[in-house]
Amino acid sequence: MATLKYLPLALLVPGFGAMADEHRARVNYQIHCQGCHLPDASGFPGKVPRMNDFVGYFLHSREGREFLVRVPGVSASRMSDEDITEVMNWLLTTFSPGQLPESFEPFTVSEVAVLREQREDDPERTRVRILRQIAADVPELASELARADD
Ligand code: HEC
Repeated sequence: MATLKYLPLALLVPGFGAMADEHRARVNYQIHCQGCHLPDASGFPGKVPRMNDFVGYFLHSREGREFLVRVPGVSASRMSDEDITEVMNWLLTTFSPGQLPESFEPFTVSEVAVLREQREDDPERTRVRILRQIAADVPELASELARADD
């Protein structure tokens, strides 16, 4: 047993390695994402979509969930699958907790690894289609979209 104490904790405690580190997630967001998305995730109207109080809506459909990792800014990021997973879960729960479905399950590393390989080629068009579908079931999103069309 003597050698056991030199094993990393991640190997000893199941799930420990997957535990999110909020500080690391925030720093990775600052380095890799906020240049386009801004520190408060408000984006640039017409160019970079607002994520604060919004991005959680995508989790109301499987396609929406998958879209979030397929967009070029995420799928082509230089970050590892582990770091991307952590940033995605952090940003959803930090910037848009109120829009997440009650059934929300955090992204897993293996899920992210697969989705990254399926890069979205036409994000603008796909985004609109997915949001319309979700809005049919989620009235709050429907009224958001109606306001945005004004
Ligand atoms: C070069 C600018 C840029 C960078 C860097 C960037 N993004 Fe994006 N992001 C965009 C744009 C533009 C979109 C809208 C979809 C598209 O056109 O790709 C987007 C869409 C998204 C979406 C889907 C949300 C929606 O409403 O469409 C998520 C989630 C996202 N980005 C997260 C990230 C994360 C996490 C990072 C850092 C790893 C990141 N982005 C880096 C520009 C960027």
